[in-house]
Parts: sequence; structure tokens; C-alpha cells
Amino acid sequence: MLQGKKILLGITGSIAAYKVPLLIRLLIKEGAEVQVILTENARDFVTPLTLATLSKRPALTYPFNEKDGTWNSHVDMGNWADLMLIAPASAATLSKMATGLADNLLLTTYLSAKCPVFFAPAMDLDMYRHPTTERNISTLQSFGYTLIEPQVGELASGLCGAGRMEEPENMLEAIKLFFRKDTLPFDGKHFLISAGPTWEPIDPVRFIGNHSSGKMGFALALKAAQRGAKVSLVTGPTHLTIDHPNIMRTDVLSASEMNLACQEAFANADVTIMAAAVADFTPSAPSQVKIKKEKGIESIQLKPTVDILSGLGGLKKRDQLLIGFALETDHETENALKKLHNKNLDAIVLNSLNDEGAGFGGDNNKVTIFDRNGNHFETGLLSKSEVASEILDIVFGMINKEEG
Ligand code: CTP
Repeated sequence: MLQGKKILLGITGSIAAYKVPLLIRLLIKEGAEVQVILTENARDFVTPLTLATLSKRPALTYPFNEKDGTWNSHVDMGNWADLMLIAPASAATLSKMATGLADNLLLTTYLSAKCPVFFAPAMDLDMYRHPTTERNISTLQSFGYTLIEPQVGELASGLCGAGRMEEPENMLEAIKLFFRKDTLPFDGKHFLISAGPTWEPIDPVRFIGNHSSGKMGFALALKAAQRGAKVSLVTGPTHLTIDHPNIMRTDVLSASEMNLACQEAFANADVTIMAAAVADFTPSAPSQVKIKKEKGIESIQLKPTVDILSGLGGLKKRDQLLIGFALETDHETENALKKLHNKNLDAIVLNSLNDEGAGFGGDNNKVTIFDRNGNHFETGLLSKSEVASEILDIVFGMINKEEG
């Protein structure tokens, strides 16, 4: 995939440097050529010998080789590279990159680079959140450089939050995506995908929910992102995790929260797929305090939730595609087609609870997809990931038809 691509890999002083040898291995395995430049501080975290062995090239820190006087030309390296990645990018280096302070080989090469620049910050939570760091990152983005966002998680300091450098596998994906851009079917498209159940509060600790696991929506989000789409994933409560540089995840609890998040993302969405199992009813007057057992609950009064999909159907513009799911137990086709028309959809994915091995919770699914032109397509019983691929193949066909 990266055969012959020339990558300049800049490493700065951060504990996350320990992950870089793995990234180099992955890049080399994909056929890339890797030239490592590390700052003096980075040498405290990872050795030049390790980096040189894996990259099959000397790992450089100084402009001159002290022994034989050979010049490591930052200009030549800047011209040579197809892409420069600075990972980990410490707060100090981000600041120097933003202001052009070229006081080491990495930074002189960065200033000379004619290629796209990616940077993957790694630092402590408070440093990452500091206004100067935020400003430096925005400045770099305004230059057209690509931020590989740090992950939220446990940090070396023991704190927990954003600041953990992205994993090597995902950085590799981001690089591959960049080089593959021309051929990816959903490149430049924005998807909004909803997933999971909603929880409707009875009181601060109790809720009405449903059996949706979120697996179908997550599979769609991942596949769409792997095909180049930028994905806004709005999900109800689920234990699922998802990790892809193109996916922006928003977690919500209730139908009304999901509605707000979907409405916000919808304006920019070329394709929207509502795979969430949104509750149709919510307690009319949830208690603000925990209802005590002794007091008892004789009945819970419910009111209808907002129909998110119908609302989006009303807002839909001509160049937007809107796809819903229908979960049916009887009169499946009839009910699904009714939803297709009533909610102003371009297609609907029918999930029948009568199909053995398909539906809620499990890893498999079997669906029928109806479009608004009267076509339909039935998948066999497949993994949810395969079903997601089939659905996205159809979406791709629909986009091409609209644009063609
Ligand atoms: N949906 C929604 N908002 C709701 C209920 C459903 O956006 N309050 C969406 C679901 O995400 C799905 C589609 O509407 O894409 C159909 O959901 P489904 O539960 O099958 O149908 P309902 O419209 O809720 O009708 P019913 O429950 O009566 O079958």
C-alpha cells in the first residue's frame, strides 16, 4: 500500500516515543521508506540504534556527523519526503512549529518540508488543554497540517484524559488513508450514523431502555470511515469502543439528547443512517430524586419521544441521503415501506425479528434494503460487519446515481 512512499518521521521528547518503533515496523512492512529524525530529548526515551535498525537508515539528531563531518541536509530531506509525521509531538515542539523556531534538525527539516505534515501530540492533560497548546494546534491546522488527535485514556502521569498519543496502527491508517485518497469511494463525504439504544429516565438511577447493542451502527461507522468518509457517530449507551481517525463519536443517553446531536450533525451530512433503536416513549415527569422503594411506583406515565428520523426527513435537502432502519415482527415489508414514505427516506433497512440468528445483541444480521424507487435487496445471514458493507455498497450506488 505504501510501496516507495517516503516518510520523514520526527520524534520529540515524550514517553510516547516508545510506541514509535512499532510504527516504523508497520510503515516498513507496507513498503514505505522511513527517515527518522529525533530531537536530543527524544534520545532519552528511545535509542537511535533501535530506530536505525528498524528503519534501515541512520536515525539523525544533529546537522553534522561529528565523526566525519557529513552534512545531514535538512533541505534535501525536506525535498525528499512525500509526507512528514511528527510523533510524538511534544508541547514544546508544537510551539516551535507554530512560530518557526528552528533550533534543531527536526525543526529545520520541518521548515524545509515541501510535503504534507501530520502531527500527533502527546503530553499531559493540562498541557494539552492549555490555551497556548490549543492555539498552537489551531495555528498548525490553519497552515493545512493534519492533526492526529490524541486519545483519551490513562496518561503516564497517572492522570486520565486527552493527551495519549494515537496508537501506531491508527497512525498507519491515517497515513494510508492520505495516500489512498483518490481511490476511496466515500472520500470527501460526511456521514451521520446513529447507533445503540436510548435510555429514558424514570429517576436519576432508573431508566427504560431496550436490547440494542449498537453493533450494527458501529459496524456501519467503521466501514464508512475505512472507505474514506468522515463519520459523526451519535450513540446511545453501549460498551462498544471504536477507534478510527475519521470517526467523531458523541455519546448521548435519551432520545431528546440524541435528537439534539443528530440535528446538529445533520446539516453537514451527505449521508445519514439512523441505526439507533430510539425509544418511542419516555416518562412524562421523571423524578429529580431517587424514588424510594417504600413509596412504590404504581404506574409510570409516558409521553411520545420526538421522531428523530421524521424530523430529519423534513429538513432533508436534495443532495442529502437519508436511510432509516425498521425493526418489525409482522407485516414486515408493508410496515417498512410505510416508514420509508412517511419519514421521507431514500432507503430503509428492514430488520425482521423473525429471522433466526439476526437482530439485537448478536454478531449477525440479515436485512432487506428497500429504496424509494421500488428496488429491494436482501442479504443472507451475515456478520454485522458484512451487512454494513452491503448497505454501504448500496449507498455508494445511490450517491453515484444522484451525482451522475
Ligand atoms: N426512529 C427515530 N426516532 C424515534 C423512533 C424511531 O429516529 N423516536 C428511527 C429509528 O432510528 C429507525 C426508524 O426510525 O431508523 C424506525 O424505527 P422503528 O422503531 O422501527 O419504527 P417507529 O417509527 O418507532 O415505529 P414503530 O415502533 O411503531 O414500528
